[in-house]
Amino acid sequence: LSQESQSVLSAYEWVTKLYHHLLRYAKDGKEGYHYLQARGLAEEAIDAFQLGFAPNAKDFTAEFLEKKGFHRQILVKAGLVSLLNDNSVSDRFRGRVIFPIRNHLGKTVAFGGRALGDDQEPKYLNSPESDLFQKGKLLFNFDLARKYIRKEGEAVLFEGYMDVISAYQADVRNVVATMGTSLTEYQAKLLKRYVNTVIICYDGDNAGVEATSKAADLLRTVGCEVKIARLKDGLDPDSFIQKYGKEAFQNEVIKASETFIAFYMRYHRQAYNLNLEGDRIKYIEKMLEQLAMIDSPVEREYYLKELSKEFDISLDTLAGELQTYQSRNG
Ligand code: CTP
Ligand code: MN
Ligand code: MN
Ligand code: MN
Ligand code: MN
Repeated sequence: LSQESQSVLSAYEWVTKLYHHLLRYAKDGKEGYHYLQARGLAEEAIDAFQLGFAPNAKDFTAEFLEKKGFHRQILVKAGLVSLLNDNSVSDRFRGRVIFPIRNHLGKTVAFGGRALGDDQEPKYLNSPESDLFQKGKLLFNFDLARKYIRKEGEAVLFEGYMDVISAYQADVRNVVATMGTSLTEYQAKLLKRYVNTVIICYDGDNAGVEATSKAADLLRTVGCEVKIARLKDGLDPDSFIQKYGKEAFQNEVIKASETFIAFYMRYHRQAYNLNLEGDRIKYIEKMLEQLAMIDSPVEREYYLKELSKEFDISLDTLAGELQTYQSRNG
């Protein structure tokens, strides 16, 4: 690591402690504490993730760090403060709840700052990317989740910070998040190094479903088995847990996650008008193409039977067609 990166890491460490301390113990952080409390977070989770609050002041953070001996250029470089035209400085995070983003070694390499109001833009303000932090190369909470991922033989993939923290509180700890952006090949390979099965549990809105399909393709490409956890009512994992509780999340979402192919059938169904013969045939062909890639004969037969029943085509005919796809795969 360069001297500069080491200084940035050190500044991040101070700031993590500062913001966390303010949120937990100071008047200046009360707003943040109440915000998280209202969202159902207990002190244990707040401490485990070192959540904090950046006060709504012009240069509180800048002043704190300069007193600790950090040079301005380092703080600007770190994305903690910006330099204004009049040569004064201004804090980047103001009046926001702070989520420290840790790398695989548990070191804070960036922050996500959430606005207190739901109509404030941007909802989350993140640290800029740097040598230390590239969003596409890091999974939020990977450092804490790693041992649980190994133990369970499964990883659960979320979109956001609050999903991870709520799941942690619900005793589901093999959990990481992509922080909104789509899963990258780098992240998929990282997961594959630790685990064979990934449960995708993205938000129940349209964007979440689209992202699920893309992430599933990528994970399968790198050789992971993929399962999909569905959330009703367009909820996200955090809001599901707050609404229905921990047992419902464990049993009706995580344990009840469906196979990739079940998701795939449902997902592609929307793209076809199954009342039209042409569409029907295209749909069946697409499904056979996918079924041909399934290793388990039991699973293959199960879905073949589903297709057979639904479209009133004999199992023999479908099985014959499936074989032509399988021989194509080699
Ligand atoms: N995100 C971001 N910047 C934004 C919006 C989202 O970096 N302006 C990232 C955050 O990591 C966020 C994730 O994308 O956690 C998922 O976005 P979204 O579902 O919109 O937010 P939630 O995590 O549900 O946040 P909250 O529950 O606080 O509204
Ligand atoms: Mn603490
Ligand atoms: Mn979302
Ligand atoms: Mn969400
Ligand atoms: Mn949410």
